[in-house]
Amino acid sequence: MEKLVLTSTRTGLNGTITVPGDKSISHRAVMFGSIAKGKTTVQGFLPGEDCLSTIDCFRKLGVKITQKESFVEIEGDGLEGLIEPTDILNVGNSGTTIRLMFGVLANTPFHSCLIGDDSIAKRPMKRVTEPLREMGVAIEGRQGGNYTPVSIRGGNVIGIHYTSPVASAQVKSAILLAGLQAEGETIVTEPAKSRDHTERMLRAFGVDVEVEGLTVTLKGKQSLRATDIVVPGDISSAAFWLVAGAVVPNSRLVLEGVGVNPTRTGIIDVLEQMGANIHVEMEDEEVEPIATITIETSSLRGIEIGGDIIPRLIDEIPIIALAASQAEGVTIIKDAKELRVKETDRIQTVVDELTKLGVHIEATEDGMKIYGGSSLSGNTVNSYGDHRIGMMLAIASLLAKGETTIEQAHSVAVSYPNFFEQLKELAEGVKENE
Ligand code: S3P
Repeated sequence: MEKLVLTSTRTGLNGTITVPGDKSISHRAVMFGSIAKGKTTVQGFLPGEDCLSTIDCFRKLGVKITQKESFVEIEGDGLEGLIEPTDILNVGNSGTTIRLMFGVLANTPFHSCLIGDDSIAKRPMKRVTEPLREMGVAIEGRQGGNYTPVSIRGGNVIGIHYTSPVASAQVKSAILLAGLQAEGETIVTEPAKSRDHTERMLRAFGVDVEVEGLTVTLKGKQSLRATDIVVPGDISSAAFWLVAGAVVPNSRLVLEGVGVNPTRTGIIDVLEQMGANIHVEMEDEEVEPIATITIETSSLRGIEIGGDIIPRLIDEIPIIALAASQAEGVTIIKDAKELRVKETDRIQTVVDELTKLGVHIEATEDGMKIYGGSSLSGNTVNSYGDHRIGMMLAIASLLAKGETTIEQAHSVAVSYPNFFEQLKELAEGVKENE
């Protein structure tokens, strides 16, 4: 599916949806299960391309993994059980895979080479390779280790106290994974709180992790004990329906089993502040909190979004920009420079593609300014291979007059393989031509 033509919906969006498993948590479940001793099972795994890349990397490192749709079984033999791969580890489009793999491989006494797709080749790796070098890991890569291909030979890792310049869970997690294998203690402090799935899941695997404010501490030479993991629905995937339900007239959507970890719920806070009819009902709280979220068509108002909330909604900014285009007044998004180094430069792609649909939107250095009250008209737009841009444009097409053609629509499979099927079920009258 290279190209997809969508028409606007005739009616509102109504129904109950279960979104696929959380991408961040699915990656970690496979990674931690692969370096633990014993059999780990994962239920609710996201069978999206990114998480399949993680499975592929660990199979190349000698781990026995069986995966059938959303169920995964991993037979781990600890970090010592990993073997030198005979092939390059290819992470595809997945930034989380490559950055966390550097941490996993920090103390393995063998050589590995990592590459990814064209998007990965443009994304900075120094934020992880630099602190890992400080810990004693031998890493070489293009442009001083900042870009793929990167090769790594682990060994003799020592703990560090690292103050990260970016609020990034990928950086924090990579250093913690290296720290687990290090001599001494590792401490990571970040400028704002990023998602804490690593800290929560390491505890579930029997690791001692201390968290105090923005600082995480763990002692080295700890091993992981296999366990059974249940992955909640991905709030970043639910976000597309939350915004669709709020902006498409006559809609009411119920989203069940959504992960509502407080480090990820910025989208709920923003929709509430914009005046959305949104209701969150807690279902469960074990390793990760889970809720049912209901959204109804709402009159939204523009707001200012910046500061510490940014890491809590970083992946939702493309769809928040669409919500803002339907609000009354102006929305300003700032402190979000990180968007420039995601799967695409998401400030530029959001602005370019929404402009083609008739939205009045301007890029700023660290965010964007969106003028509300836009009426959208169909046009040819492009995801540029970025899954979240592809899904945001599909939701936009529900509102646009006439036909919208989305180029590179297949990219949604990175995090939401059945997105278009669910869209067709929910949105009556939406036609799809490939
Ligand atoms: C992720 C962390 C975030 C996020 C990405 C997934 C993770 O990236 O944007 O989609 O699973 O750790 P950063 O750590 O670079 O902010």
